[in-house]
Amino acid sequence: VNIGIAVFSGTGNTMHVAGVLAERLRNHGAEVELFHIDADCRDQIATRLSTTAYDLIGIGHPVLGFGATPLMLRFVEALPEGRGKVFIFKSAGDNHRINNSASEKLMRVLQGKGYEIVHDFLYVMPCNWLIGYRRPFNLQIIDTVAAKAERHARELTVGVRSFLPVHRGWRLLARFFHFLESRYGTRQFGRSLRAGTGCTGCGLCVASCPVSNINEDHRGPRFGSECIWCMRCVYTCPAGAIEAPGMNWCILKGGYRLTDYIGATDRERTFITRESGGYWKHFVEYFFEKKNGSPS
Ligand SMILES: Cc1cc2nc3c(=O)[nH]c(=O)nc-3n(C[C@H](O)[C@H](O)[C@H](O)COP(=O)(O)O)c2cc1C
Ligand code: SF4
Ligand code: SF4
Repeated sequence: VNIGIAVFSGTGNTMHVAGVLAERLRNHGAEVELFHIDADCRDQIATRLSTTAYDLIGIGHPVLGFGATPLMLRFVEALPEGRGKVFIFKSAGDNHRINNSASEKLMRVLQGKGYEIVHDFLYVMPCNWLIGYRRPFNLQIIDTVAAKAERHARELTVGVRSFLPVHRGWRLLARFFHFLESRYGTRQFGRSLRAGTGCTGCGLCVASCPVSNINEDHRGPRFGSECIWCMRCVYTCPAGAIEAPGMNWCILKGGYRLTDYIGATDRERTFITRESGGYWKHFVEYFFEKKNGSPS
């Protein structure tokens, strides 16, 4: 099986999942090419995916405000009409059912172009926004990615179809919140971004923004109006100097670095147990379901 996977990842989580999944797919005999999407290369990658004879196309994105980022929407819009098979995966800070419909716009565009969606799954990853999980929970999350990816790779290579269950009520709520997030939240966040006094002028934020929304002048980095609220610049800044006055509540105190968890050897790496209750109850199924696959 020849597979091309296109991924957008703000802070590395979805890219990590894509890397583990690609490795597992290769173990199952697939040839896999992985493409990292940003605004500059979006259209070239869309062309490459459509002109290469892939048996399967994979599309990965983070769940941002219960939906997919407009960057990925533009990407699927840039794909020509096709008859190919597509699988979708997303990473999110939570496996609550409200996230299950996060790719619906992408799917609608793809289906409208003639593509067949054959698989849709969700990986829980450490939350990079609003709520920072405790370290043992983040380590448990990272430890679980490989088992999930193994099952998904097996399903994809033998042609098993699988979709996340979408409840109508949750889908409507997700649409409503995603509308608010994209219409107001993202704009407000983008408008409020600024480099504070700690800025050293290193230029890393300028180079890292996936939509080239940051420029530099003699006063330092200047943020434009194209922000997609991916948080990359905020967490990439070595001086922790990027602030969003009025919206700082969504930035994790102490920042977010996936590398704090990958390869960490802490002994304490379990937070959710079979007995977890209250708010955490819905995670139990994700971590302990028999087939250890996508959440349902
Ligand atoms: C603006 C924003 C909105 C988010 N919205 C959600 C959400 O609706 N549901 C959720 O479970 N996680 C949400 N998250 C958390 C991310 O989906 C999660 O941490 C993801 O793994 C990040 O992936 P990335 O590093 O590839 O961008 C949000 C994160 C950001 C920055
Ligand atoms: S990454 Fe931080 S320190 Fe470097 S230019 Fe941007 S705001 Fe300034
Ligand atoms: S300005 Fe920052 S948060 Fe906005 S899109 Fe660019 S890197 Fe992401």
